[in-house]
Amino acid sequence: MSDNVLVMDHPLIQHKISLLRDKNTGPKEFRELISEVTMLMCYESLRDLPLKEVEIETPIAVAKTKILEERHLAFIPILRAGLGMVEGVVNMVPTARVGHIGLYRDPKTLQPVEYYCKLPFDISKGDAIILDPMLATGGSAIDAINSVKKHNPRSVKFMCIIASKQGIEALTKAHPDVKIYCAVKDARLNEHSYIVPGLGDAGDRIFGTK
Ligand code: PRP
Ligand code: URA
Repeated sequence: MSDNVLVMDHPLIQHKISLLRDKNTGPKEFRELISEVTMLMCYESLRDLPLKEVEIETPIAVAKTKILEERHLAFIPILRAGLGMVEGVVNMVPTARVGHIGLYRDPKTLQPVEYYCKLPFDISKGDAIILDPMLATGGSAIDAINSVKKHNPRSVKFMCIIASKQGIEALTKAHPDVKIYCAVKDARLNEHSYIVPGLGDAGDRIFGTK
């Protein structure tokens, strides 16, 4: 597996993934779990955020300590299912900006169809992290990254919850510079290109549309 992929298999994440996979988990709990897993994933996916040294007065003495450098960071969910991950990341980085890319996978051709794109105006000065719980064939992620790259961000990362082996291979081939953060890797896709065992249709489960 490429160095570009980091699987975050912390026990807390694995436990929550099992609950997400369970077909009996309803939309309320499903949304909460997506948010919690995303929050936990921030720990590693934001490890390289730059810090600057500051002096802070504690009740006892002056401490030389570190805070986050002001840096333009944009989270970009792929609609719809990526929306479920926004709360988790903005809880961790409340100053981040949020862009949106609307894409759906045509059920017949399996090709991504883009219907919306609104990115932060200063994205060229910052780092972009694209969010989507599912990386199946990789088509949607590749297309979203193509759109974001047109605006010349300093760097691009892709954060998902379940990634298929095929999706990782396709995305790594198309965008070798993009680091992929996932919580779990599943081995295969079914005849409709759904991840097996996966968790079903993430958008439908988040929004209760099926
Ligand atoms: C899902 C998912 C990804 C895409 C993954 O979205 O959220 O965006 O499929 O599949 P791929 O890797 O094969 O492209 P979907 O097209 O179902 O749209 P939705 O989020 O609006 O339901
Ligand atoms: N999109 C989903 O929501 N789930 C899959 O398994 C594949 C694509």
